[in-house]
Amino acid sequence: MEELRTARLVLHPIDDGDLDVVTRIHTDPELMRHIHAGVPHVPEQCRADLDAARAHWRRHGCGSFVVRLHDDSAVGMVGFNTPVWLPEALPGRDIGWTIFQAHQHHGYATEAARAAIDWFFLSSIGDRVVGIHNTDNPRSGAVMERIGMQWLLQTRHPDYGYPVEVWETTAPTPREDR
Ligand SMILES: CC(C)(COP(=O)(O)OP(=O)(O)OC[C@H]1O[C@@H](n2cnc3c(N)ncnc32)[C@H](O)[C@@H]1OP(=O)(O)O)[C@@H](O)C(=O)NCCC(=O)NCCS
Repeated sequence: MEELRTARLVLHPIDDGDLDVVTRIHTDPELMRHIHAGVPHVPEQCRADLDAARAHWRRHGCGSFVVRLHDDSAVGMVGFNTPVWLPEALPGRDIGWTIFQAHQHHGYATEAARAAIDWFFLSSIGDRVVGIHNTDNPRSGAVMERIGMQWLLQTRHPDYGYPVEVWETTAPTPREDR
């Protein structure tokens, strides 16, 4: 697929040249604090992480986007996965976001997520997207609320036991926000 462009951002499907971005995110303890075990990966794991993200695109027609400013500097990643680890969230894809700390608090996660959600539904990739965040990570929930997702349920992470919130949407973001 082609890249997605917004007022400030360019989103492109993750590709083989994005190992540096994946490694910067997945080895950062603060960025990984609220994701699954909360443990950063070692650099040696990141090639497999990148390969898995690319395989998701091939298998499901959607996946992770690397998000850059118009000057080409990377600000993070936004995109789709399949929440096989949380049966209550299935069926469908889940959307997630990670923005480098230096680029947080600028609205980039929300702007990129809107573009990704709108592309997902307007291109008929699927008919449902969920969002899942740890209860103690309300900033991620705030993104879900901003892009028009509806809170669905609270449950517990099946492997780690902490509470998680599940949101969902079945439509593009509200028109006035596009
Ligand atoms: C979750 C995460 C992506 C949120 O990032 P964020 O920068 O707060 O999210 P947004 O893009 O929605 O930005 C909103 C903030 O930008 C501000 N902002 C500034 N300019 C803005 C603009 N032009 N448009 C919108 N918001 C703007 C908003 O006021 C808001 O400020 P606040 O954080 O002080 O409330 C970030 O905390 C992160 O990467 N965390 C680590 C990874 C993670 O936990 N991911 C979620 C796993 S479920």
